Amino acid sequence: MLGNQENNSPHSRAFSQTRFAQTTLQANSRSSLFSNFLCNVQNKLCYNRTMAKTLKQTVWEAKEKKVAVGHFNISNLEALWGIFRAAQSLNVPVIIGVSEGERDFVGVKQVASLVKSIREEFDYPIYLNADHTYSFDKVKEAIDAGFDSVIVDGAKLSFEENVKMTKQCVEYARNCGREVLVEAELGYIGQSSKVLDEIPEGVMLDESSLTDPAKAKEFVELTGVDMLAPAVGNFHGMLRGGVDPKLNIERVKAISEATGIPLVLHGGSGNSEDDFKQAIANGINIVHINTEIRLAFRDAVKKALQENPDEVAPYKFLKPGMLAVQEVVANKLRFFNNL
Ligand code: G3H
Ligand code: ZN
Repeated sequence: MLGNQENNSPHSRAFSQTRFAQTTLQANSRSSLFSNFLCNVQNKLCYNRTMAKTLKQTVWEAKEKKVAVGHFNISNLEALWGIFRAAQSLNVPVIIGVSEGERDFVGVKQVASLVKSIREEFDYPIYLNADHTYSFDKVKEAIDAGFDSVIVDGAKLSFEENVKMTKQCVEYARNCGREVLVEAELGYIGQSSKVLDEIPEGVMLDESSLTDPAKAKEFVELTGVDMLAPAVGNFHGMLRGGVDPKLNIERVKAISEATGIPLVLHGGSGNSEDDFKQAIANGINIVHINTEIRLAFRDAVKKALQENPDEVAPYKFLKPGMLAVQEVVANKLRFFNNL
């Protein structure tokens, strides 16, 4: 954890710049103050208090610009700082993701508070997503805690059951009193962010097993979801020591045209830069990365402990992990944002 007061801590580096930005924003943003007042009057949880853009605006802007917002998973504070610092250094929006397992570890309300505190202190477009959520109850818990978006993962269910659960979640999100985006999954792409020796069981990469554009259109119309995660040759995790198989870009394009909504590419670890470039040009507006971050963090901390076996201060032996995450994320963000 980052308990030190060193000059290069995330806080101190950006502190003066942030204060300036906050002062300028406060001076110029009467409408923002007015909406804060309205929110307070309505006694609702106003997660977007000082934000210039909501996640919905950010994602649709990405669609117009044909770029993608980076989505990165965390299960600790070091990764959160590494991701934020990478995004801040490039001045691009970023989404923090926590799966059911990751948020059980960090704490649902606690992760919401952490991201909110960075968003407010730095007045920064950093958003929080409840990644791969398998039940209505868990979706409700994340929405109630203040998340900006949720992913209803009914990929293993039948089409009808997936529609039913997704619809229930969309209805809850629409009536929660603030803007919460709902993403759904159509097509199975595996479930674990880890280094793989083979393509995960149940994942099929042949054309007939990928998400069907007509079914995707029907699904979006029946559920009213904001974003869709299709199976287009992608899968969770990455193959050991190599690049994952090519994505089916034609299918990305067809699903994007059929649905008209932003598409989300899951399982981004291991995919080639060329695949990202083409997928983003053809309708992908959010890309998820997890395994590559986990790997970078693990390897950097392992090396730090091997080099300094007597070090007992977590903020010292964990710092290389944070910096390794920052580096991986910055490289991805440059690419996703066409920088
Ligand atoms: O939702 C999380 C992602 O889809 C991460 O996939 O571990 O293959 O990068 P990845
Ligand atoms: Zn995923």
